[in-house]
Amino acid sequence: MPEQPSGRIAVLISGRGSNLQAFIEACKTGQLPAQICLVVSNRADAAGLQCARDAGIEVACIAHTDYADREGFDAALVARLQQAQPDLVVLAGFMRILTPVFITPFAGRLLNIHPSLLPKYPGLHTHQRAIDAGDSEAGSTVHFVTPELDGGPPVLQARVAVGANDTAYSLAQRVLSVEHAIYPLAALWFLQGRLTLDQQGAHFDGQKIPACGLQYPPPLAADSAAGH
Ligand code: GRF
Repeated sequence: MPEQPSGRIAVLISGRGSNLQAFIEACKTGQLPAQICLVVSNRADAAGLQCARDAGIEVACIAHTDYADREGFDAALVARLQQAQPDLVVLAGFMRILTPVFITPFAGRLLNIHPSLLPKYPGLHTHQRAIDAGDSEAGSTVHFVTPELDGGPPVLQARVAVGANDTAYSLAQRVLSVEHAIYPLAALWFLQGRLTLDQQGAHFDGQKIPACGLQYPPPLAADSAAGH
């Protein structure tokens, strides 16, 4: 029997929602003993909204185009999210730059996943940039969100090899498959109280996390498998 939900997670999306779907599945199987309390999209046509509805999750659509500026949009997001009382807010392909109006109320409980090995390639077109640079590996990074775009402290990183024939599309597919493993895991650690953010940076079990984040699969996977 899956464990009872012990944490409330709100997910912000703008599109496809494959990471959202990974969270839905992890909650369903009990791998992530949590409840997705709300999914918010800034786009009414985001495919991920249907995944949420199909799973019986409450959804909200807040169109950024209805607001004069980023701060007004962010204030509306905060108001809606606060009604849902999340313990953790995860950005999963949410394609809006957030201001401190949003980030401050959720500081320390706001995560993002970025499709590169941060600090390499913040911003867009990460896979093409890795290919163009001749990188032998690419990957994805879960990080705490701070006002610096894709610049908050990394938490967990997974690597994939870049093949000679890779295109941005094929590389993105390979990276996505590891995203679906690391993002729910980072959320689990957060809800277990193992992952924290303070003035000194991100910590795991009280130890400072290295600048690139913990590397996946983590060494403690062996301990978990042994039932410790
Ligand atoms: C992922 O590549 C993630 O790293 C980035 O946006 C994409 C979202 O994909 N932040 P999906 O909507 O979860 O499928």
